[in-house]
Amino acid sequence: MTSLPLPAHHPALSASDPELAALVGAEERLQAETLRLIPSENYVSHAVLEASGTVLQNKYSEGYAGRRYYEGQQNIDQVERLAIGRAKALFGVDHANVQPYSGSPANLAVYLAFAEPGDTVMGMALPMGGHLTHGWGVSATGTWFRGVQYGVRHDTGLIDFDEVRDLALKERPKVIFCGGTALPRTIDFAAFAEIAREAGAVLVADVAHIAGLIAGGAHPSPVPHADVISTTTHKTLRGPRGAMLMCREQYAKPLDKAVFPGLQGGPHNQTTAAIAVALHEAGLPSFRDYAHAVVANARALADALLARGFDLVSGGTDNHLILMDLTPKDVPGKVAAKALDRAGIVVNYNTVPYDPRKPFDPSGIRIGTPSLTSRGLGTQHMAAVADWIDRGVTAARTGDEAALATIRAEVADLMAAHPAPGIPV
Ligand SMILES: Cc1ncc(COP(=O)(O)O)c(C=O)c1O
Repeated sequence: MTSLPLPAHHPALSASDPELAALVGAEERLQAETLRLIPSENYVSHAVLEASGTVLQNKYSEGYAGRRYYEGQQNIDQVERLAIGRAKALFGVDHANVQPYSGSPANLAVYLAFAEPGDTVMGMALPMGGHLTHGWGVSATGTWFRGVQYGVRHDTGLIDFDEVRDLALKERPKVIFCGGTALPRTIDFAAFAEIAREAGAVLVADVAHIAGLIAGGAHPSPVPHADVISTTTHKTLRGPRGAMLMCREQYAKPLDKAVFPGLQGGPHNQTTAAIAVALHEAGLPSFRDYAHAVVANARALADALLARGFDLVSGGTDNHLILMDLTPKDVPGKVAAKALDRAGIVVNYNTVPYDPRKPFDPSGIRIGTPSLTSRGLGTQHMAAVADWIDRGVTAARTGDEAALATIRAEVADLMAAHPAPGIPV
């Protein structure tokens, strides 16, 4: 049994399962007190948290609204229709499926809809910034299909569209994925669409990382260029852990069929409800401000890091994400990430393009501004953030634990002045 304090605002949980309640309380404190820089994370609103903890959890509803295999769907159908209608309006798409359990199953559904096992599929290589599910070897998408992979140029850190085009025309993939998980630059959806059209491939824009920026007008939209749009709902979009697939009407049937019954059983209705709430919030004027502030903060942070001699992949950022190669600082990414964690700054170690080190011990760290922007930090705070990272990385190299403790206290002070959404103080 843990000796951690019980969170008074979870009375039922604390009474029924104090061990678990104490861990939830500890995680709340950790998220409140630390500077969370992992670019795929965020703080959801209290409303999103509430929606994801409702009795909608109790309901089975295999099928789609109006076509279920279970009775008692009077409310569930409306919840799902609400989420779908909001997704369509927010992103300007013909069709939305809000049932995928998360981003990886959403992408798997795309393959199921448009490719046969053994077919060639194409995406960005994982070490270049792509996602596992874009045909990388250790993923089912790279073993059940023949994954061919493009990257970024060594000299610029940018996608080489001549290379992408040559590869697509040579390999004739059924599906081309664009988007990724460590891409600091704007994705040129129109350029990908032209290549996919020439190669006869279905173009999938995986906008998991940037969906909130697109919704808020801070990144160009993949509509009308992509045939299918895949996204998680829990990153910049600031919703619950889940995913959506959106597409033109002509692709709706195969996609829906691939999600259910192709891959999944009953949708997680409490998540669908929370997605609906997040989509409502993302349609508010304040969310446009948020999305633009995320980008402004990332640019200011990138500038401040460059001024301190950090090597940023592609030389900076256009979005919410910064990928740093720490080789010139003489500290491996993992050593830096673990030291920063001790300093109250949460990042993840990451490969950089053409990384000579192994993925589990790579050269870089990946950071982003969605979470700190959700707490109300602005460009005026980014010099301090860069300074903490700089001092933290130096302390990682010299083994200076006292310096890390000093940073941790400074971070906690700023965090206390900027309460995190959804976390009771
Ligand atoms: C671009 C991209 N696609 C898909 C996913 C997969 O999402 P999930 O972790 O929800 O399966 C991620 C997750 O990081 C991602 O970055």
